[in-house]
Amino acid sequence: MTDLTSVDYFSDNAVSQDPYDYWDHLRSQGPVTREPYQNVVAVTGYQEAQEAFKDTESFSAVNAIGGPFPPLPFQPVGDDISELIEAHRHEFPIFEHMVTMDPPDHQKARSLLLRLLTPRRLQENEDFVWNLADKQIDEFVANGRCEFLGEYGKPFATLAIADLLGVPEEDRDEVRRNLGAGNAPGSRVGALDHEPVGSNPLQYLDDLFAGYITARRENPRDDILGGLASATYPDRSVPPVLEVVRPATFLFAAGQETVTKLLSSALLVLCERPDLQDELRADRTLIVPFIEEALRMESPTKVDFRLTRKTTTLGGVELPAGTVIMLCLGAANRDPRKFENPNEFRLDRKNVREHIAFGRGIHTCAGAPLARVEGRVTINRLLDRTSNVRLDESVHGPAGRRNFTYEPTFLLRGLTELHIEFDETK
Ligand code: HEM
Repeated sequence: MTDLTSVDYFSDNAVSQDPYDYWDHLRSQGPVTREPYQNVVAVTGYQEAQEAFKDTESFSAVNAIGGPFPPLPFQPVGDDISELIEAHRHEFPIFEHMVTMDPPDHQKARSLLLRLLTPRRLQENEDFVWNLADKQIDEFVANGRCEFLGEYGKPFATLAIADLLGVPEEDRDEVRRNLGAGNAPGSRVGALDHEPVGSNPLQYLDDLFAGYITARRENPRDDILGGLASATYPDRSVPPVLEVVRPATFLFAAGQETVTKLLSSALLVLCERPDLQDELRADRTLIVPFIEEALRMESPTKVDFRLTRKTTTLGGVELPAGTVIMLCLGAANRDPRKFENPNEFRLDRKNVREHIAFGRGIHTCAGAPLARVEGRVTINRLLDRTSNVRLDESVHGPAGRRNFTYEPTFLLRGLTELHIEFDETK
């Protein structure tokens, strides 16, 4: 049993496997509490996390991804460190992506992207996603079993975004393989003749998309990459290639792993709860709240960070300018002041859509509509094409003595593998 008072959230393996007791322990000291090891202030309360997301005057997103790592590149002084943040912004991890930007630059980057995610494009993508789900299921359904992340979740999430952006069909097998999402059966791509890109996927994607954007500036096409290639700023100036490449790169980076994690946690619930499987099979409209409850219960983005730009108070706690705060989404989504019996998976939860698994405020997940479609379509098609979906007990152990491994990271919540069995619907 872990002694929760002496746990370093950022390195403790037991807590990365199950953060919920630790978060309850933190919350019992207050919804905004200083964590002793990295000198980070943890926000485990729903109301307080929501407030911090929305208060961009007091909180900067400059450290959204890294939090306390690396340490601040400057020594905070005074009650307003806005100038210091701007002077050192380029020293923060992924400073060039919108998720770490603050107003007004953030709005510029985000509006460029949102202009392209039109209802028509999203609808076309949804049509594609229904077919894609079937193609992925075709790859393993006759076996009566699969390792769900490798055989479904990763390739599905990768190819869904590839389509959304307009990556040409002939390149998709290679993109899938390069991003660690496996080989398509019968793929024309041979053995890797270079290092896989796992260690630097952002650079790989930047290079890939720079090629597409440059090509589309010469030969315009009606897809998102084409839209990015021809996009101009409000003053009609043409952005440099790299600037329009970045939203595309970030869509991939942000949407691949998170969706895989959502799909696998949702499927695990279905395996453990045959009663829910029956309910969803009988009434497919319940799949929508099912996905929302899965997002609430196992929020794929466990934590998000902010840097206190101006000395302020949150949840009654004073936060000097320069304080790193950790918004614990997974904890806020189980805050008993907001969600009744928060550790229970309930389809009839009235306020389930109020979870903050997609964040809140100006940085609210731009891919949430796609993630929701991917979840809904996946569960629908799996329920159509299989029955009696269950865990492979030879891997995960018998009921009461299950074993699962979650990725040992402080940022994301997700299984490393999920082995399932099922009967194929003929
Ligand atoms: C279940 C899946 C997903 C989860 C849980 C998730 C979670 C999040 C969260 C919590 C944020 C806010 C970060 C912050 O405020 O610091 C965010 C931002 C973002 N997400 Fe997602 N995401 C998911 C899927 C996707 C997908 C599929 C895409 C792309 C197609 C995507 C694209 C983005 C982008 C571009 C941002 C940055 C928005 C901004 O800074 O304005 N996400 N996501």
